[in-house]
Amino acid sequence: MKTHKIAVMPGDGTGPEVTAEAVKVMQVAAQKFGFKYESTNFDFGGERYMRTGETLPDSGVEDLRKFDAILLGAIGHPDVAPGILEKGILLKARFELDQYINLRPVRLFPGVETPLKDKGPAEIDYVVIRENTGDQYTGVGGVNLKGTPNEVAVQSAVYNRFQVDRALKYAFEYTQKHGKKAQGKGKENTLGLVGKTNVLTFIYDLWERAFHEMGKKEYPEIRRDYYHVDATCMWMVKSPEWFDVLVTGNMFGDIITDLGAITQGGMGLAAGGNINPEGVSMFEPIGGSAPKYTGQGVINPLAAICAMGMMLDTLGETKAAQAVEDAVKFVTANKMKSMAAGKMGYSTSEVGDLVAQKLADA
Ligand code: IPM
Ligand code: MN
Repeated sequence: MKTHKIAVMPGDGTGPEVTAEAVKVMQVAAQKFGFKYESTNFDFGGERYMRTGETLPDSGVEDLRKFDAILLGAIGHPDVAPGILEKGILLKARFELDQYINLRPVRLFPGVETPLKDKGPAEIDYVVIRENTGDQYTGVGGVNLKGTPNEVAVQSAVYNRFQVDRALKYAFEYTQKHGKKAQGKGKENTLGLVGKTNVLTFIYDLWERAFHEMGKKEYPEIRRDYYHVDATCMWMVKSPEWFDVLVTGNMFGDIITDLGAITQGGMGLAAGGNINPEGVSMFEPIGGSAPKYTGQGVINPLAAICAMGMMLDTLGETKAAQAVEDAVKFVTANKMKSMAAGKMGYSTSEVGDLVAQKLADA
C-alpha cells in the first residue's frame, strides 16, 4: 500500500479551521478506502511573515517538492499589504512548482441555493481550466515616474506557445475523460476556448490557432467552441447548461471562476486544484481567508473538503474522492440550511462531522 505524503498549509484567517475539517474527512476516507497518508504541517502565511519577514522561502519550495500533494487553507492577512502574501506564497508555489493548470469545477450541489433563476444542478455543471502560469501574472512590466501626474504603468500579458500547448493538451485530455459524453450526460464532449480574439489579437490569436490545430489533429472527436470572455460571463448567468469544459488564460480564468463560484452557491463551496500533472499539485478552497469570520467556527468548510476530495482523485484514490463528493452532496441536500458563514445551522466542525459521518456510513 502506498503512503501518500501530504503537505498541509492551513495559512491565514479561517484557513486553519476549514483545513482541519478537510483533514478530519481525509482520515475517515483513508480508513474506509484503505489508503495511508502522512501529513506534515507548514506555517507559511501572514503570522509567520509578520514574525519573521519570510513568505515562502526557497527552502520551503524545496521542502514542498518532496510531497505527493499540498493541501492549502487560505492565504491573506488583514495586517499585511495586499500582494505580499499572495505573490510571496500562493503565486510563488504555483510558479515554482510549475502548477500550470488551475482546475475549477463549477457544479451546483443538490440543496444549494444559486442566484441564477430557474437553474439547478443539471444546468450548473461544468469545469473551467485556467492556465496558471502566464498572462499578466508573470509580472512583466514596470512603472515609471511613480507618484507624478505622468506616471506610466505597464503589466503585460505574456504567453508562449509551449505554455498554451501544454494547457490545451491538459484541457483536451480532461474533456475526453470527463466531458459530458464521457459522463453519460450528453451527446458529445465539448471544449470551449474563452478568449478575446477581437481585441487581444496577439495573445488570443495564438491560443485560438493552437486550439484548433491541436483539436483537429489529435482530438477530432471533441467538439470545439470559441467564446469571447465578455459573452462567456453573460452565458454563465443565462445558459450555463451550454458549457462542458472551458479553457482560458490566467487572468480571464481568475475572473470568470469567481462568477462561476457564486453561481454554485458561493465561496463556501468552490474548490480548485493547482495542478502540475508531472509534479506536485496543490488544492485549495478558492474563497480566501475571510478574516472577519476567523476563529468563530462559522465558516463553511465544504470547499476545503471538496478540495481535499480533488486531491485524493489526483493521487489516484478515485473511489474515495467520489465518496467524499457524494457525502458532501448528501450534507448539502439534507442537512444544511444555507452555505453562508454563520447561517449553516451548524458550526464549521459540525459540518465536517456530518460529512465524516456520512462517509463512514457509506
Ligand atoms: C485565486 C486568487 C489569486 C489569483 C490571488 C489571491 C493571487 O484570486 O486563486 O483566484 O489571482 O489567482
Ligand atoms: Mn481569484
